[in-house]
Amino acid sequence: MRAVTFAPAVLALAGFVWAQTPTERVIPTLPPQINALPSLTPTIYDDSAPDSQECPGYKASNVAQTGHGFTADLAIAGANCQAFGNDVADLVLEVQYQAKERLNVRIYPKYIASANSSWFILPPSLVDQPEWDGKTTANSSDLSFDWSNDPTFQFRVSRTSTGEELFSTYGHVIVYEDQFIELVTNMVEDYNVYGLAENIHDFRLGNNHTQTFYAVDAGNPIDGNVYGVIPFYQETKYHNGTDSTAHGMYARNAHGQEWLLRENTITYRTLGGSFDLYFLSGQKDDGSSSALTTIAQFQVGCIGTPAMQMYWTFGFHQARWGYENISVVQEVVDRYREANIPLECLWNDLDIYDLYRDFTNNQVTYPLPAFTNFIESLHANGQHYVPIIDSNIYVSNPENASDYYEPFANGAQLQTFIRDPTTGDFYYGDNWPGFSVWADWLLPSSQAWWTSEIVKWHKGTPFDGIWIDLSEASSFCAGSCGNGRLNENPVHPPFLLPGDPLTFDFNYPEGFNVTNATEASSAAAAASSQAAAYSASPVLPAATTTTQGRTEPTPGVRNLNFPPYVINHVQSGHALGKSAIAPNATHNDAYNTTEYEMHNLFGLQISNATYHALLEVFPGRRPFTVGRSVFAGSGKTTSHWGGDNTATFGSMYLSISQAFTMMMSGIPMFGADTCGFARNTDNQLCSRWMELSAFFPFYRNHNVKAAIGQEAYHWSSVAESARRAMAVRYSLLNYMYTLFYHAHTEGATVMRALAWEFPNDASLAGTDSQFLLGPSILVTPVLVPNVETVQGVFPGIGDGERWYDWYTLEEVHAAAQENVTMSAPLEHINVHVRGGSILPLQQPKYTTNETRHTPFGLLVALNSTGGAMGSLYLDDGESLVQDATRLVTFAYAENCLSFTSEGSYHAAQPLANITIAGVASAPQSMSLTCGGAESDANVTMAYESGVLKVAGMEDVTASGAFEKDMKVCFGW
Ligand code: GLC
Repeated sequence: MRAVTFAPAVLALAGFVWAQTPTERVIPTLPPQINALPSLTPTIYDDSAPDSQECPGYKASNVAQTGHGFTADLAIAGANCQAFGNDVADLVLEVQYQAKERLNVRIYPKYIASANSSWFILPPSLVDQPEWDGKTTANSSDLSFDWSNDPTFQFRVSRTSTGEELFSTYGHVIVYEDQFIELVTNMVEDYNVYGLAENIHDFRLGNNHTQTFYAVDAGNPIDGNVYGVIPFYQETKYHNGTDSTAHGMYARNAHGQEWLLRENTITYRTLGGSFDLYFLSGQKDDGSSSALTTIAQFQVGCIGTPAMQMYWTFGFHQARWGYENISVVQEVVDRYREANIPLECLWNDLDIYDLYRDFTNNQVTYPLPAFTNFIESLHANGQHYVPIIDSNIYVSNPENASDYYEPFANGAQLQTFIRDPTTGDFYYGDNWPGFSVWADWLLPSSQAWWTSEIVKWHKGTPFDGIWIDLSEASSFCAGSCGNGRLNENPVHPPFLLPGDPLTFDFNYPEGFNVTNATEASSAAAAASSQAAAYSASPVLPAATTTTQGRTEPTPGVRNLNFPPYVINHVQSGHALGKSAIAPNATHNDAYNTTEYEMHNLFGLQISNATYHALLEVFPGRRPFTVGRSVFAGSGKTTSHWGGDNTATFGSMYLSISQAFTMMMSGIPMFGADTCGFARNTDNQLCSRWMELSAFFPFYRNHNVKAAIGQEAYHWSSVAESARRAMAVRYSLLNYMYTLFYHAHTEGATVMRALAWEFPNDASLAGTDSQFLLGPSILVTPVLVPNVETVQGVFPGIGDGERWYDWYTLEEVHAAAQENVTMSAPLEHINVHVRGGSILPLQQPKYTTNETRHTPFGLLVALNSTGGAMGSLYLDDGESLVQDATRLVTFAYAENCLSFTSEGSYHAAQPLANITIAGVASAPQSMSLTCGGAESDANVTMAYESGVLKVAGMEDVTASGAFEKDMKVCFGW
C-alpha cells in the first residue's frame, strides 16, 4: 500500500514525498498549476453572448422525392451571423420515413471536405445509424413531416392519426455553424420530459433545467454533466382522462452539447457535427402510444438492445478502494461467509497494481501465485472475481531503464496512442500512475494490443469480468503536460488522493448527528483539526486561476480547446480540457479526427474493445464489463455503474432516477455504489441502501479509500437488512433474468417507473421514490434517516389493480392515489407483488449457482378477475450463443394454472410448489395434468387467509420442472 510521509523541508519546495513499499521512493508531485486552465463563463450565463436565434436561418429549395421521404437544399437566408462559429451556407436536408414508427431528419453541410474535414458526420462504424427499412413510405408512417419557408425553413413532426404535434421548430431559426448547431422546438405547457442520460436529477426533468453533455470525471454532480451521454428523451402527454400519448426523440451526435429545457421550448445545441434526429412515435399496432413502447423503439430501432448478462452477475458484488493486500480481501470473503451474507463476486480496485499501472500485480501486497490461488479459491466456492482496469497507460521514464513498462512499450510499437498535435508525438497526460497515454480506438492495432494485454494478465489474475474506469477519458493535468517531463515519472497527480495524509473523510450521512451525537461531534472536531493542519502546512500550493473572455469565431478556423460557445461543463472553470484529454489531441485515422469530436465516445470504445478482448479470454462466453463512461449503444456490450456518488440519503434517492434513465438508454445492467462511495456511511444509510440496491439489476457495494469500511457485516442491522433483501432478490433471480431476456430481445425495461406501467395516472408522472422491477414487483424504499415508516402509493388500485405484500401475501387495501403509510423497520424493505403476475421462484442460497439448483416454486398473484400471467426464460446462463433455451409461458384463468414450455434447455430441478395469493376460500378439489396425463401423485393443498399453497409436486415434475406442459385446476 502506498503511504505518504511528510518531509517538511521538501514540503515547502515541491509538494510532498511519499513512500512506496517495498522500495522506499520519493515521487515528485506535479504542481497544481499544471492543471490550470483559464476560467470561462458558460454561454447560458453570459449576458454578452450573441443571441443565436438572430441568425438568418435557411431557405429550402430543390425538393426531390425519394420514395421514402425527400431531400432538399438549404441555403443560408442572409448574411453569416458568426454566432458561435463559422456559418455553413449550404446544407442538405434529408427526411426519411425509415420505419412505421420512426422518422429521421438529417441536416448536414452540402460540401464536406474529405480530408481535414471540419465537420464530423458520426460514422455508422462508431455509432449505429438507423436506416430505412426498405418498405415504409410517407403513407404508411405513424409520423408526418411538414415544413415551411416562411419566413425561413422550419419543420414540424406530428402524429399522423391524430395530428398531435410532437416537435416543431416553427417560429425559430436553424443555426448551422462549424462549432455550433442549434434548433428549438416548441413544447406544451408544463411538459413531461424524461431521459437525457446521464444526469443526477429528478426523473421528470422539468422545464427549468439545462442538460450539458460532455463525459466527465466528476463525482455525481447534481444537474451537471456526468460520465455518460445518451441524447434521447421521451415525452408523455396526459389528456385529462383519456389515454396518455408518448413519443421520443434521439439526436445522434457525439459532440459536447447542451439541451435547454425551458418553459415553452427545448433548445438543442451542439459544438459541431450534424442534425441526425430520430422521431419515435411510441405507437403500437393499435395506434396507442406509450413510454415503454417508445423506449423499446429507441433500443430496437436506433441503438441496439442490451447484452444478455451471465446469470451469476446478478449476485451481490463487493468492491472497495483500499483493500490493501490478499489477507484483507480474504478476510472480506471470510467475514461475508461467517455472517451468512451471500457474496457472489469480490472486486479489486487499483490497490492490486504496482504503482497504479494497469495489468500489473503488486508483488508485495498481491504477489503471484498467491493471488492467483486466492482467485481460484473463490472460483472453487462458486464465487467470482472482477478487477479494475483504468483507461490510462503509464509512460515509462525514458531515463530509467529499470522503469520498463511493457503494456506501454507494446502499444508504442504499434503507434496505438492518441497524439499531441503540437509535437506529433503521443499525447502525454497524467493520471494515477503519472504521465500517461490513451489508446486511439480508431486504430485497429489498438484492439489487438488491448486484447493481448488482457489475455496475458488473465493468466495470473484469472478474473471473470472487467471494470473499466476513468473512461471519459480522465486526465489530471491540462494538455500534454508530460512533454519534456517524462523523466519525472512516476509522478503523483497534482492533487491529494484519498488515502494521502490529511484526506480522511469525516463526513457522515444526514441524521448521523441525531443517532450518533457523540461520534458526530468527535468527527466534526477531527475534521476541523485536519483542516487546520492542512492550512498550517498546505501539502500542495494553491493553484492560481485566470479568467478568459468569450472566444470570437475565427473565419476558416475552429478553436477546439476554447470553442466560442461555452457549455456549462461542470469542471471548475468550464474549459473542455479540464481533467480530460484536450480537445485538440489527434487520432491516427485518415482524417486526423480530433478529441473534440471523439471525446464522448472513448467510454463506448474502450468498453467495446474490452468486450472483444474478453471474448478471446472466454471464447463463446458473454463478456461482463462494467464501464464508467457510456454513450448511446453502450448497452450492447457493457454494463454501467453510477460512479462516485456520496454516502448520503440524497444520493441514494437520486440513484433511482439515474437508474430509470439508464433503463431508457438500453443499459439496464446498472447499479449505484451501494452505501455510498465518497464519505462515511452509517448503519442506517447502509441498511437502507443494501435493501434498495437489491432490486437494481447490478448490485454492488463500493467505497472510497479514505472512509470507514462498509461491507455489510460491519453492523448487525446492515447484515440483517442485506440477508433479508438478498433473500428476496435471490428468490427472484429467474424473474430478473427473464426481464433481461425481454430487454435483450425486445428492448423491454428491467426497472420501471410507475409512470411507465400506469401511463394514464398523471399523478405518477414524477414518481421516483418508488419503482417497479419489471411489471410485477413494486419497491417502496426508505429514503430518509430516522424513520420506521414509509409512504407509498399502490398504483392502479382505484381501477381494480390488486397488490400483495411480498412477505405475508396479504392483500393491500388502499384508496386510489392514497399515500399509504407502511411499517418499515430498519431491516425491512417494502416489496409488493402485483395481482395478475406469475413469478417463478427458487430458494435463496449463498451463491447464484447454488440458488439455481434448488427446486422451483411458482407464486401466482391473482388480479381482480382471478387471472394471472408470467414467463420464464431459461438457458445455460453463460453462452453468447445458446445451444438450447426454454421459454415457459404461465397463465392462470378460470381456476386453472397452466403453462406451456417451448425449447430444449433442460432445467433438471423439479417444480416443488405453487402458491396462489388472492383466493377467496379453500377449494374443494384439485386436478393435475402433466404432459397430457392426469396425475394422482401425493400433492397437498393448504389454504389460509386468502393464500392457497400446493406442495409435494416434486414427484410429478421429477424429470424437470418445465419439461412437460402442465395444468392444475381447482374446484370450488
Ligand atoms: C474512480 C472510480 C471509483 C474508484 C476510484 C479509484 O473514482 O469511479 O469507483 O474507486 O476511481 O480507482
